[in-house]
Amino acid sequence: MGVTDLLKLLLLSSGFVGLAAAADSPIPVNFGVIAFPGFEALDIFGPLDALNLLAYKYPMNLSIIAATMDPVGTTPRINPKNSNFSEFIVPTHTFENAPPLDFLLVPGGPGTRATNLNSTIDFVRDTYPSLQYFMTVCTGAGIAARAGVLDGKNATTNKRAFKETSAWGPKTNWITHARWVVDGNIWTTSGVSAGTDGLFGFMSQIYGEDVALNTANGMEYVRWTNASYDPFADLYDL
Ligand SMILES: *[C@@H]1O[C@H](CO)[C@@H](O)[C@H](O)[C@H]1NC(C)=O
Ligand SMILES: *[C@@H]1O[C@H](CO)[C@@H](O)[C@H](O)[C@H]1NC(C)=O
Ligand SMILES: *[C@@H]1O[C@H](CO)[C@@H](O)[C@H](O)[C@H]1NC(C)=O
Ligand SMILES: *[C@@H]1O[C@H](CO)[C@@H](O)[C@H](O)[C@H]1NC(C)=O
Ligand SMILES: *[C@@H]1O[C@H](CO)[C@@H](O)[C@H](O)[C@H]1NC(C)=O
Repeated sequence: MGVTDLLKLLLLSSGFVGLAAAADSPIPVNFGVIAFPGFEALDIFGPLDALNLLAYKYPMNLSIIAATMDPVGTTPRINPKNSNFSEFIVPTHTFENAPPLDFLLVPGGPGTRATNLNSTIDFVRDTYPSLQYFMTVCTGAGIAARAGVLDGKNATTNKRAFKETSAWGPKTNWITHARWVVDGNIWTTSGVSAGTDGLFGFMSQIYGEDVALNTANGMEYVRWTNASYDPFADLYDL
């Protein structure tokens, strides 16, 4: 009996059922999230809050990875309306000393349009081959595309920013009508809130639908479970 089987048995005997739904898919332990200035808050914290709850059911470690150890803020601190309105996340690692990862999440946000993302793009390019799973939210797909990770893959992104973001991935088959898209071990999700639905889609596929449902119920989160239902694609004439 392997460690995973033992874990499943322990969890089953503790009354938590249905963990064997995806026996052929590895269960990730080491999760990483990239933060860059101008990330979109919900792109990170929607999926992360679902994972926060999942971490009560499985052994999971999280690294928050950025160019430096300085706190990283959302939308530019002073925006064109002269609003001083942002939140900061505190990195645990830099791109230089990040631990080996099984799962990596790349958020989107206004910062994906910045010109100084080379170290972020390089990290995604260098890290992807050793991951079990990779996920982007919103315009984070543009970072993955520039890293070459989406070459030859199906992918989606934010519908309002679809044309600009998809231009970064000329070798990608961009899917217009999709809340999220899965191709191999790559989950790309549509705009902002779609990251949470994509994460639950991932959770359902890898851990089992009952785990995803139980977690979403704990959050009182109304899931969007049909990956191809996408009224926003029509709204933005895609
Ligand atoms: C996860 O973090 C805990 C606490 O730091 C540590 O004891 C454990 O070894 C870590 N697990 C892995 C797989 O790195
Ligand atoms: C914006 O608000 C923060 C928090 O109150 C403050 O530290 C910072 O100085 C403010 N920035 C400007 C330019 O006013
Ligand atoms: C970032 O990478 C691009 C493409 O490789 C290169 O043209 C550009 O000079 C780099 N920028 C910096 C600041 O290194
Ligand atoms: C990629 O999308 C096309 C439709 O554009 C579909 O036929 C194909 O099965 C998809 N590939 C994967 C790996 O999902
Ligand atoms: C999912 O949405 C697509 C697009 O609207 C629709 O064609 C399909 O029937 C839906 N699937 C289910 C299971 O509801």
